[in-house]
Amino acid sequence: RKKVTINTLQALYKKDEPITMLTAHDFPSAHVADHAGMDIILVGDSLAMVALGMEDTSEVVLEEMILHCRSVARATKAAFTIGDLPMGSYEIAPEQALESAIRVVKEGRVQGIKLEGGLEMAPTIERITRAGIPVLGHIGLTPQRQNALGGFRVQGKTTLGALKVLEDAEAVQAAGCFAVVLEAVPAEVASLVTKKLKIPTIGIGAGNGCSGQVLVQVDMSGNFPPGRFLPKFVKQYGDVWGESMKAIQAYKTDVKSRAYPAPEHTYPMPAKEFAEFEN
Ligand code: KIV
Ligand code: NA
Repeated sequence: RKKVTINTLQALYKKDEPITMLTAHDFPSAHVADHAGMDIILVGDSLAMVALGMEDTSEVVLEEMILHCRSVARATKAAFTIGDLPMGSYEIAPEQALESAIRVVKEGRVQGIKLEGGLEMAPTIERITRAGIPVLGHIGLTPQRQNALGGFRVQGKTTLGALKVLEDAEAVQAAGCFAVVLEAVPAEVASLVTKKLKIPTIGIGAGNGCSGQVLVQVDMSGNFPPGRFLPKFVKQYGDVWGESMKAIQAYKTDVKSRAYPAPEHTYPMPAKEFAEFEN
């Protein structure tokens, strides 16, 4: 497969072919996403929960993001790779954001960064894109701001709210974003915003009128124990947790019953050599 570049993504957008994007948080999760043919692999700060067991994304720090970006980058041969700027690494000033973005690209070895926020982040997005680092915007529901939003709520459900989503989308486009993630906005709003923009929209909980889709890998592959809450927009395509569980339980049973290891799993020794050893 040919390396996906910013030009490849632009070409898909021009052809109206949906852009596929999936998160990865380490070497194996990136390896499988790349082999499956994802156009973009995102090292989302959702790794705080899915890889580090944290409560929410506000806990993960830049160094941890960089470490995970590097492991993802090592496994990714074709997909375009993006790393999230975590909370606290970019809000203070455009210079701080640029410094963090440079670290994610230089040390994390990914090709672009994503940051949350609309109109108010325009100067920051401009600063980073002027340095030659592709920026993916992220508007609508921005999880790093959950406390200010009053939780994980759909955005743009009212006329005013929808206008705000459109204003943010146009602002991040004007600031230089190559694409923008629309999270948890009504499908009609996301479709209209997509039509009005000249850059691709990547939807998550935003209907099928977007230019592409993104999901968190552990959610869509079912790599979590039964009973965990999943947002309404997630479609679960697999049962990776169940498969791992079955394999590990079978291993346990085999070890307890001495069915494993079988003769084919052991190293042979010439009988004569062993006889001498035994005496
Ligand atoms: O952190 C993440 O996984 C994300 C995607 C859900 C867009 O930001
Ligand atoms: Na994120």
